[in-house]
Amino acid sequence: RHPGWPAKLGPLRVPAGILAVRPVRLRDAGDWSRVRLRDREHLEMWEPTGVGPWPERNAYWSWPSQWLALRGLARRGQCLPFTITVDGRFAGQITVGNVIRASLRSAWIGYWVSSDIVRGGVATGAVALVTDHVFDFGGLHRLEATVRPENTPSLRVLAKAGYRQEGLFERYLDVAGGWRDHFCYAVTKEETGDGLVSRLVAKGLAERV
Ligand code: ACO
Repeated sequence: RHPGWPAKLGPLRVPAGILAVRPVRLRDAGDWSRVRLRDREHLEMWEPTGVGPWPERNAYWSWPSQWLALRGLARRGQCLPFTITVDGRFAGQITVGNVIRASLRSAWIGYWVSSDIVRGGVATGAVALVTDHVFDFGGLHRLEATVRPENTPSLRVLAKAGYRQEGLFERYLDVAGGWRDHFCYAVTKEETGDGLVSRLVAKGLAERV
């Protein structure tokens, strides 16, 4: 077992409903595939360039191998792959990846939310829950989020959650078929005070339930 894994986080009331975060499951296949096949336009331009066509990569039968890979990384302490739920229903994913320990103790965080419940505070709440968790229980000291400058909603999520902009990484990631510039946002444990969730609650953006 690695620190902070597995874990269930929340629940938290946000405008979209009751938000919770839990480890990815094999039986997420149906919901995962249905939402992602429907949401191609919402997701594809922000995601790593994939091998093969979208319908194939996001078919029901492509989840088991992805789930196995994520579970393997999680068991080795290199990743914390979570499913986001709202009112108990599948609502997206949030992942902490490339976990480096020793004197860096840092990782990246990435997320996506089903198009039918965006603008309801789900991503912001999930980022806050996961960030607090990896600092309190995962042994990490820093999280980094890289976002395309065009991705206004995601930039807003990070600002609301309490991340700060550190700089611009030029031609940083192979996303949507090209090497895309990304803003780097980050947060370290010292900056979070009583936690990012507590801050959202104090601002009236979420409520503990
Ligand atoms: N223009 C301006 N602001 C916008 C727009 C828009 N077109 N769309 C949404 N917003 C704002 C919302 O109003 C809200 O801000 P507010 O609370 O100040 O009004 C904010 O963006 C979104 O906040 P949440 O509701 O917490 O986030 P949500 O649950 O809607 O999820 C997300 C945001 C994850 C970016 C979602 O839109 C999504 O899945 N997009 C596609 C995939 C993606 O881009 N993932 C992030 C990649 S970068 C990374 O992972 C670090």
